[in-house]
Amino acid sequence: SRRPIIAIDGPAGAGKSTVARRVAQTLDLLYLDSGAMYRAITWLVLQRGIDPQDEVAVAEVIPDCEIRLAAGEPGTPFPSRIWINDQEVTRAIRSPAVTQHVSTVAAQPMVRQRLLQQQQVHGVHGGIVMEGRDIGTQVFPQAELKIFLTASVQERARRRQRDLAAQQHPPVSLEDLAQAIDERDRKDSTRRVAPLQQADDAIELCTDGLTIDDVVAKIVHLYHQSL
Ligand code: C5P
Repeated sequence: SRRPIIAIDGPAGAGKSTVARRVAQTLDLLYLDSGAMYRAITWLVLQRGIDPQDEVAVAEVIPDCEIRLAAGEPGTPFPSRIWINDQEVTRAIRSPAVTQHVSTVAAQPMVRQRLLQQQQVHGVHGGIVMEGRDIGTQVFPQAELKIFLTASVQERARRRQRDLAAQQHPPVSLEDLAQAIDERDRKDSTRRVAPLQQADDAIELCTDGLTIDDVVAKIVHLYHQSL
């Protein structure tokens, strides 16, 4: 039999990574960041000078790309370490260029098909918290607990600005960040395959004005209730 699965989905910058990692630590579950996998493919596409919109060229990259993930070791600076074709890209996948193009690459059916399989393999035995956009709807529709994490665009832009500063990126205005977040959400929720969408049985949690501790405590409580 498999252990429980927690699916955490939601728009960009809602705090999914931080919250999912902390929930996993608290409940002693594995933590996996599915967005990191889409980012790794996007990094490879850009590195090879391929136009992210060119579906045929992007599809050609898929067969010979191998993504390896270290499932959330507690206390590491990033959610989890990640390699593509044996090159570590843990830090590189957070670059503004990757962030800008990832939704375009993630909208392509070949890319999604490939990553869906790999993500489902990680859940075979359960005992995992996975976060992304389509975990509750596509990857693990049978998850014991589904959370749809949201926050206002202003709040998400402020958080993104703090994240970028912490990673020593050049400053970006709140307005530009809010616009970029909106644009990514629009692409993610309007794509044909596996759009960002709240599952019917997901619990929506708006994190405006809540601390990380508050949000983690709520999810841990819901988890115990759901068993
Ligand atoms: O969560 P993160 O911001 O790292 O995700 C980056 C991008 O990867 C998202 O904007 C989305 O385009 C894509 N993604 C996805 N499905 C997931 C996780 C991420 O399409 N399950």
